[in-house]
Amino acid sequence: MPRSHNDFLWGASSSPHQIEGNNVNSDWWVYEQQMPNFSLSGDAVDSYHRYAEDMRLLAEAGLTSYRFGIEWARVEPLPGEFSIAVLQHYRRMIDTAHDLGLTPVVTLHHFSSPRWFIEEGGWFGETAIARLSAYVTRVCEILHDVQWVATINEPNMYAFMMLMASGITGSVVPEFETPTIQPENGFVLPRPLPEAVEVLIKAHHAAREIVRQNTSAKVGWTVANLAMYADAPENEARFLEERYAREDVFMEAARGDDFIGVQAYTTQAVGADGLIPHPPHEDNTLVGSPYRPDSLGIAIRHAWEVTGGVPILVTENGIATADDSRRVAYIEEALKHLFAAADDGIDIRGYLHWSALDNFEWGHWEPTFGLIAVDRTTFERTPKPSLARLGEIARTRTTTPSEG
Ligand code: FCB
Repeated sequence: MPRSHNDFLWGASSSPHQIEGNNVNSDWWVYEQQMPNFSLSGDAVDSYHRYAEDMRLLAEAGLTSYRFGIEWARVEPLPGEFSIAVLQHYRRMIDTAHDLGLTPVVTLHHFSSPRWFIEEGGWFGETAIARLSAYVTRVCEILHDVQWVATINEPNMYAFMMLMASGITGSVVPEFETPTIQPENGFVLPRPLPEAVEVLIKAHHAAREIVRQNTSAKVGWTVANLAMYADAPENEARFLEERYAREDVFMEAARGDDFIGVQAYTTQAVGADGLIPHPPHEDNTLVGSPYRPDSLGIAIRHAWEVTGGVPILVTENGIATADDSRRVAYIEEALKHLFAAADDGIDIRGYLHWSALDNFEWGHWEPTFGLIAVDRTTFERTPKPSLARLGEIARTRTTTPSEG
């Protein structure tokens, strides 16, 4: 139970492309320019240079962990050419986290890849697994004292993003406005292609093996959990089919892992024809999804069941809102569901909130998920009350507000 686990991780999450800035060698740098309705990541929030300040703010608030990613496009700017200076940069990040008392949780692949990798054929090319393996092997050189490594972030979301590769290798730019925001126009994400599922599972298992051979870290991957449900009893079979294809298949592949990263934000209804677009509602978040902090409990329980009891690390949970008091309420409610799941005996190792900073939400800047606001002209950081609140919960291990 988290309240009795002294090493329970209380932290915040990020990903390199969303915060570092000028990730010019990545496929995403290209996609942003091609997709008609995307904004550019540009300098992002310059965390490549300001990571120490970001981590210090988290530590000062009382958090004990920081999840960040290593950017493949920087580590390997050309096929087979590895940058020692960049590896040293990420090593300094690990050292900084340790110095501040933050347990680093390191992600190896978070949606972005080197542009050359996609040009070479990407995930469906013959070299995919060998390329990823070579990158992971080099990164392991700096991971000797890291305890938590996530191989691939949200393979189930990423399987869909792979469609954007056609923007680099072909002429067709896919017809959607954004991968992570659900507009109120009836658009829902398609099911992952079976070949994408297959290669991502292969890639995860290959990376897992390399991390196990070269480090003493616990290794797993992080799966987007949609907390799906049937909108009516007669649609139960369709719901189970959708849930299997969109998430269970990825969780089953985590059965031999040391942990599974649970990432939950909201719920998703399934009807006779599949996923039902979120109807407009005044409570919807800035990404068009219903306000459902209870989705975290649903997600934890489902991941626990499908993996057959693989320890759980909540690697993302949060809300896109411009009203920070809603974020505080969301966190408190979500954590009640986490505590209840822990009280029922589910082995939960930590809670990492998405996100540490307001950041580049994959083509858009408006949905703000951060515990810390950033002025994008001065890069000045301003911690929000939600950061202090999460820090207080981390120290007191309870969501009951302290007296006085
Ligand atoms: C998840 C991603 C993360 C961020 C949040 C809001 O799908 O892993 O990068 O976009 O959603």
